[in-house]
Amino acid sequence: MAPVDVIRVAGGARLVGDVSVVGAKNSALKLMAAALLAPGETVVSNVPRITDIAVMAEVLRRLGADVRADGDELSISVPERPGAEADYDLVRQLRASICVLGPLLARRGYARVAHPGGDAIGSRGLDMHIEGLARMGAEMVNEHGFVIANAPRGLHGATIWLDFPSVGATENLLMAAVLAKGVTEIDNAAREPEIIDLCAQLTAMGARIDGAGSSRLEVEGVEGLRPVRHRCVGDRIVAGTWAFAAAMTRGDLAITGVDHRFLEIALDKLILAGALVETGPQRLRVRMDERPRSVDVVTLPYPGFATDLLPMAIALASVSDGASLITENIFDGRFMFINEMMRLGAQVQTDGHHAVVRGRERLSSAPVRATDIRAGAGLVMAGLCTDGVTEVSHVHHVDRGYPGLAEDLRRLGATVARGTVPDLPEFTL
Ligand code: EPU
Repeated sequence: MAPVDVIRVAGGARLVGDVSVVGAKNSALKLMAAALLAPGETVVSNVPRITDIAVMAEVLRRLGADVRADGDELSISVPERPGAEADYDLVRQLRASICVLGPLLARRGYARVAHPGGDAIGSRGLDMHIEGLARMGAEMVNEHGFVIANAPRGLHGATIWLDFPSVGATENLLMAAVLAKGVTEIDNAAREPEIIDLCAQLTAMGARIDGAGSSRLEVEGVEGLRPVRHRCVGDRIVAGTWAFAAAMTRGDLAITGVDHRFLEIALDKLILAGALVETGPQRLRVRMDERPRSVDVVTLPYPGFATDLLPMAIALASVSDGASLITENIFDGRFMFINEMMRLGAQVQTDGHHAVVRGRERLSSAPVRATDIRAGAGLVMAGLCTDGVTEVSHVHHVDRGYPGLAEDLRRLGATVARGTVPDLPEFTL
């Protein structure tokens, strides 16, 4: 029985104080992959110290890059001829490693990347990545668990309509298009702030991109790119997690390091729930004095309510006054987290991708298990609203996205401890 990491939180704390948010995991990972597009040393700053970044650094190292961390800066030195293969042992730890496919194909005319499969939030297809690269002239094969892409004569521009504004597909196609011959148009592209950040780094590297932040991206391929220094955008999901935690615990948090405009719908929900929200440049403050009122939430691609904040919306609803209707439209497995919330006494009924949550004054402490990054954060915050000590296990998931969560919570007034416990025994017949 291998030991598993746990966070124990005591219920009843009101989170009060200042918390600063570092760079966005989901941007930094792609900025690191984009470094592969130019030989030489690219430096990305404001990078969070989390395990996903460490895994991506290892992916890049195995492709021949030299990756060094100094504080919040990562320097990535890319050789003239990077490797072209990413193996399953790394890709299974980090689905985002699929985003090396576009840059490697663009640089090498060949790439072989393990198929990441699904994970604890549901099936996660790659069809749009594959079809888009095929339109740009690559021969795409899905064989023995690998996506193999071949374009010995290089990629060419194409018009690509995405069936859905997929974040990963938009990023992979963008990174392939910047070095393709001719113009690539990506329609129904994702509009997330992390895509704008990636476009900003690519543009600084010499790429020609029009329409960043809109649903139509036009990319004129160039001969080569140069390495740059780039500062990663602040993490809106971590900031949103704190904003919801302030509301759930009837606390008062000043959150810095993120543009509040990235969280417009989420903050509007908190205002409807009764919070006082103040905003300024790279800063927001959320204060809740009363029991939150129930609000309905529907997740959608940006600028809609982020699916990564769904666990926080459910946790808030479970202690709100009244019933909330929560609808998840992005991942079919996000509701797995609800089983753990029910262990804490949350009153939830689901029907397909809808959940009705009837709030109760206080949840009931219990041992629960983090199944993914965001579910883990939601359970830790829900633990703050219980009547005893809640133990959240498998918090290595939380470490993948939230640097120093337990330390921050302690500083903001919660009673929190980290430790390890033996995992549940496995029985065989
Ligand atoms: N999809 C397909 N085919 C494709 C691509 C996507 O069917 O070719 C489907 C997926 O199965 C899913 C939906 O489209 O149902 C959305 O997928 P998308 O490609 O937009 O998401 P992603 O790139 O895999 C990123 C974030 C997620 C975040 C989503 C949505 C990274 C590393 N991950 O995933 O973040 O939830 O966008 O905003 O950027 C997290 O940080 O905890 C996390 C899961």
